[in-house]
Amino acid sequence: MATMESLIGLVNRIQRACTVLGDHGGEGSLWEALPSVAVVGGQSSGKSSVLESIVGRDFLPRGSGNVPMRITFDPSAGVLVSLVMVCDLFVWIRYRDPEAVGVATSQDGEWVGTHMADLNHLLPQNDDPFGGIRNVVNLTLIDLPGLTKVAVEGQPESIVRDIEDMVRSYVEKPNCIILAISPANQDIATSDAIKLAREVDPAGERTFGVVTKLDLMDKGTNALDVLEGRSYRLQHPWVGIVNRSQADINKNVDMIAARRKEQEYFANSPDYGHLAHKMGSEYLAKLLSKVAIHHLESAIRARIPSIVALINKTIDELEAELDRLGRPIGADGGAQLYTILEMCRAFDRIFKEHLD
Ligand code: GDP
Ligand code: NA
Repeated sequence: MATMESLIGLVNRIQRACTVLGDHGGEGSLWEALPSVAVVGGQSSGKSSVLESIVGRDFLPRGSGNVPMRITFDPSAGVLVSLVMVCDLFVWIRYRDPEAVGVATSQDGEWVGTHMADLNHLLPQNDDPFGGIRNVVNLTLIDLPGLTKVAVEGQPESIVRDIEDMVRSYVEKPNCIILAISPANQDIATSDAIKLAREVDPAGERTFGVVTKLDLMDKGTNALDVLEGRSYRLQHPWVGIVNRSQADINKNVDMIAARRKEQEYFANSPDYGHLAHKMGSEYLAKLLSKVAIHHLESAIRARIPSIVALINKTIDELEAELDRLGRPIGADGGAQLYTILEMCRAFDRIFKEHLD
């Protein structure tokens, strides 16, 4: 499992195998164990901006309010394609072709926008007998609703608590990598993001402290105490970010230009110049990939024995079924079973190789 490509390819195959074998997620399944990255922070702290810039694409619907969204993508190929479902919101993105981006949402059971089926033709066709979703998996990014301090006009009193509980339900999972977002123009070490992260990850093993809006700090102040770990210590280094401002967004400044501007900001900053190589969205994306791959490896290793058992059981059942049908098999049903059997055997070989 040396390279990221082989690892991601393996996870893809495992997930498809699991689906074929009837493992569609739930407690103890591989799906549940795969790493995710969630952004946590106050409203307008820059959560969506950070997610967009670590992926390097503009894709999040603006003003999506309190709808959590999950996006999966393949960090190795910069490709992706994937699919997401949290709170009835589907997002399907295909990075290889930036034009081919689709978003579908579901409201009260009614599909609004682009339906998944309309997006299927965007995907590569081949003779995969199981068809369906390709290249799904990988890293899941979760854009969570902003933590709030008080209910505003028209909101129930319980809203502050409800949002916090919902955010916590995502970040308390041990496979969730937390991006705790704190804007530099507010008190960072006591930010809501850091408070919640500390609660669910006291050792700071899966928390990344991210400081946004460094460009908006009062003149004469800087965030060095935080960025250099003196204000609040985490296992991972703090990362400072300069996202697009609202004015940049209004002017349609694209992601590439924004990243260049961010790099220049750090390189030319009298305060942060010495940290420039450890700051910015690209650096954060690299750090995250590393940690996510590590989590993937552990998740897969921990589950290989049970997956192999599942496959072996299925092989036995399929062989019994094929014997019952009698060989050689004629009709489609038999051929389908035979293909599944072949696939199980192939997975079995792959797992055995990776066990060594
Ligand atoms: P969210 O509500 O936490 O998801 O925050 P958004 O990512 O939507 O950002 C809220 C607003 O802050 C938008 O107008 C962004 O353009 C702006 N913003 C976010 N990060 C930065 C930053 O680093 N610098 C500046 N100047 N503006 C930022
Ligand atoms: Na947001």
